[in-house]
Amino acid sequence: MRSPDAVGPALIRFAAVAAIATASIAACAQMDEAAYPEPGDPGRGAKLVQERCSSCHAVGREGRSPYPAAPPLRTLHKKYDVEGLAEAFAEGILVHHKGEKPMPEFVLTPEEIDDLIAYLRTLED
Ligand code: HEC
Repeated sequence: MRSPDAVGPALIRFAAVAAIATASIAACAQMDEAAYPEPGDPGRGAKLVQERCSSCHAVGREGRSPYPAAPPLRTLHKKYDVEGLAEAFAEGILVHHKGEKPMPEFVLTPEEIDDLIAYLRTLED
């Protein structure tokens, strides 16, 4: 028969491993944040809107939208909090525009959303 004492050290070892794992996950998350304080890149965002939005929306500081029903992207921040837009894009809330030329159902990765938001910020002033 095993002595009941054998259970003790095994449990303690398990607890120690779990604690180390938790600590290193936390450390990783912190490192990521430090390495990418501002992950969005307005230059990439500009390219993205040029490629994927400019057939309907005006994407620059001036000019009309090629498709008049689509508001110029520079006006978005007047209606929406730009951070809120990021969340909306992530969830696909803004995907279902109606009309003759409905907005295509585009899927943006989290990185693309960051870039898009970084670009939209440059249009704010
Ligand atoms: C095929 C045309 C088309 C393309 C391409 C397109 N949109 Fe749109 N978008 C529209 C139309 C039309 C509306 C207005 C629809 C409405 O009012 O219901 C709109 C509205 C929006 C709105 C909401 C504006 C508001 O006032 O509520 C946002 C945000 C938006 N588009 C972002 C984008 C972004 C970002 C891209 C590129 C990734 C993009 N759109 C590409 C046609 C398009």
